[in-house]
Amino acid sequence: MSFVDTSYTAAESEAMDAALTAALAGPRGANPLVGAVILSPDGEQLATGYHRGAGTAHAEADAISEARKKGIDIVGTTMVVTLEPCNHVGRTGPCAQAIIAAGIAKVIYAVDDPHDPAAGGARTLSAAGVEVISGLEGEKALDLNRDWFDAVAAKRPFVTLHIAQTLDSRIAAVDGTSQWISCPESLADNHGLRGLIDAILVGTGTVLVDDPRLTARTPDGELSAHQPIRAVMGLRDVPQDAAVRGNDGRFVHLPTRDPAEALGMLFEKGVRHLMVEGGSSILSTFLAADLVDELIVYLAPTLLGSGTPALNDLGITTLADAQHWSWDEAGGGAVRILGNDLRLHLRSPRGAASIIKNSIPGSEAAEYVTGGH
Ligand SMILES: NC(=O)c1ccc[n+]([C@@H]2O[C@H](COP(=O)([O-])OP(=O)(O)OC[C@H]3O[C@@H](n4cnc5c(N)ncnc54)[C@H](OP(=O)(O)O)[C@@H]3O)[C@@H](O)[C@H]2O)c1
Repeated sequence: MSFVDTSYTAAESEAMDAALTAALAGPRGANPLVGAVILSPDGEQLATGYHRGAGTAHAEADAISEARKKGIDIVGTTMVVTLEPCNHVGRTGPCAQAIIAAGIAKVIYAVDDPHDPAAGGARTLSAAGVEVISGLEGEKALDLNRDWFDAVAAKRPFVTLHIAQTLDSRIAAVDGTSQWISCPESLADNHGLRGLIDAILVGTGTVLVDDPRLTARTPDGELSAHQPIRAVMGLRDVPQDAAVRGNDGRFVHLPTRDPAEALGMLFEKGVRHLMVEGGSSILSTFLAADLVDELIVYLAPTLLGSGTPALNDLGITTLADAQHWSWDEAGGGAVRILGNDLRLHLRSPRGAASIIKNSIPGSEAAEYVTGGH
């Protein structure tokens, strides 16, 4: 469905910039980053909302409830939002209906909902007499969620890859010990993520060496309310007494070495956000196949000098073919200090056309520079 592009007021353009910035506060994953701003008829930004991840209020509903909390009357206002309002009843109600019920007169959105354009909320809004315009900052909004759009188009889960490594990129010592390279704060952060994702995946090698549980746990060791599916990838059998099997029916063995096939199997099971946790063979396989959207690296100030490297061969033999990841400010920032560790957050080379491009936030360096020795 196409809507007529038009010129926008300065207030509408500023509101879209504010909505794009607000969107970055949310976490990447099964759902896109979305921000929304409610504008008064005279161009004042009345309320801002953003999406905090799967199962929570959408940005539009968040902005409406923010306005209500402030006691602001939003009848006859304009909603400026980075993505077409949804029309479906998922875990939260459809945003198109919430906008109509709130008496909002006009909606300006940046890009269409990629799931099924014909079923998007724009048609519903128009039919209800709401003025609908799309395309404002469309390119920026597309960049904001480029990896997520790719995953939706490929009908595969959004993939977060997690590495807990030493300063010299080791994920285990020579004797196989790896628990724990990360500090307790990093472990808690990782378990917080496990409590949000649909599934977690390791290779048979990690199961045979570490016998991990792969559950989401609170810092005091209790099981979190939400548990991800626990997937093990590889041709060898998973031992009957392996901890990962658990007894809650959430274990799945993926008897393949093909990462695309593994993603297809998980997508069929309803997985929309997968975290790949290792070890090196599995991490490298997903990276070499360009099937990773987001990278989270917990970097401990520890040296081993030998042991299992985080990555194996990625099929790169010359610097010109190197993978250039982008620092990702979404969901809490690109570089954070967690206890004694650094937490690095990056987006895939596919997202390199991103609005935040290859520069450490706050620095001037915007391009890679090759220099002399
Ligand atoms: N620091 C950390 O965060 C962390 C996390 C996880 C693991 N680790 C460490 O990593 C080490 C294990 O490393 P790993 O590489 O053996 O484990 P892995 O990557 O978990 O598993 C490797 C196995 O996966 C299977 N596999 C499936 N697809 C594959 C593919 N495309 N290419 C290669 N193999 C594939 C193969 O077994 P089949 O023959 O069964 O197909 C292979 O032997 C352990 O020491 C563990 O402690 C550290």
